[in-house]
Amino acid sequence: MKLQDEEIYHRDALARTYVDLLQTSYASSGVFLAAPRRTGKTTFIKEDLNPLLATEGALVIYVDLWEDKAVDPAKVVIEGIRKAILGLEGMVLKGAKASGLTRFKVVGFEMDLAAIGTPDGMTISAALQVLSKMARKPIFLVIDEAQHAQTTEAGRAMLFALKAARDALMLDRSLFGFRLLATGSNSDKLTALINSKDQAFYKAPLEQLEPLGDDYLAWLRKTRGRQPMPAKGVLKQGFERMGHRPEPLKGVLKDLLKRSPGAAQADIDAQFLSLVEASLEADRDLFLRSIEGRDPLDAAVLFRMAKVDKFAPFDEASMESYRRARTARSPDDDTPISKSSVQSALERLRKDGLVWNHGRGAWVIEDSQHAAWLRSS
Ligand SMILES: Nc1ncnc2c1ncn2[C@@H]1O[C@H](COP(=O)(O)OP(=O)(O)OP(=O)(O)O)[C@@H](O)[C@H]1O
Ligand SMILES: [Mg+2]
Repeated sequence: MKLQDEEIYHRDALARTYVDLLQTSYASSGVFLAAPRRTGKTTFIKEDLNPLLATEGALVIYVDLWEDKAVDPAKVVIEGIRKAILGLEGMVLKGAKASGLTRFKVVGFEMDLAAIGTPDGMTISAALQVLSKMARKPIFLVIDEAQHAQTTEAGRAMLFALKAARDALMLDRSLFGFRLLATGSNSDKLTALINSKDQAFYKAPLEQLEPLGDDYLAWLRKTRGRQPMPAKGVLKQGFERMGHRPEPLKGVLKDLLKRSPGAAQADIDAQFLSLVEASLEADRDLFLRSIEGRDPLDAAVLFRMAKVDKFAPFDEASMESYRRARTARSPDDDTPISKSSVQSALERLRKDGLVWNHGRGAWVIEDSQHAAWLRSS
């Protein structure tokens, strides 16, 4: 049996740019890379950047803090380091592990793999130093959806531990250096990780990942063979309307295939653009309906967050806006809205992945597309 995977457009030149940039001193305190949701961050990192880093001689540790949101971000990173150590020691460690041992002697260190990052065990910094000695290569730690680290106490502590590791690995000339690359889907959230003095990666540079563009569309056209396709400029216009997201574009092209066999080019173009609008409209309606279906206070809080520049959940203007929104929906409901009910609404919204909070009060809507829809409704 052979299963076909989704084809990927490889962004080799972009990977080369980042691999070069990451080796310069500009990147020494870490690089933060932002791009909106569903625009191809993870694909670029896993398919293009990490393989090139590895080919160029780096030891790459990749972790995705969103893979399982229930697992503490600190645990995910520690697990990534542990796997890298196990991977290097290969057979020796596998044998030992199979026999139930967790303490190993590696390059003259005795280490308890099960205890990395725990109060009794080895620190993250020490574990990374051991790894550097074993691998004799620069270590690149790539953290996908890094803003999630800010959501737990252990996650925040882990960022400081990584900073200590970075400094230790870079200062010790007998080691091979360290780089951190962190991605996130919202530059506001990533900015929160680097813009204040009490942040571990204060002043690290923030880059916007270039969205998929003309070269991706040319590749897509090629892979579609003789299927009906809109003209070059029209395809580009539709892709931009959809925020450079491959998934809705592919959906629209599939619908186009059903609708316009044998049609003239001008008709194909018109059909395509109307399918794009219909697809956007459907996504927007679905989202807004899902918000209307929530607890009225959840909806009121979310709308307020989208519509004001500096959202303060409990100030009088916000409380008044919740009361007005509630009265508009249920005129007879006059139960007071308390701070704790607003807090519960925020928690529900966060649990469902609609909003994000960096631990010191600032709330942000998770998906910039959602924020735009809420503002315009
Ligand atoms: N280079 C590419 N070639 C083909 N398809 C792509 C490419 N990049 C992204 N995609 C498609 O776009 C979708 C989103 O990609 P991906 O998961 O990499 O984005 P993301 O920005 O990491 O999303 P999220 O915000 O959910 O983490 C996937 O279906 C993926 O297959
Ligand atoms: Mg991703």
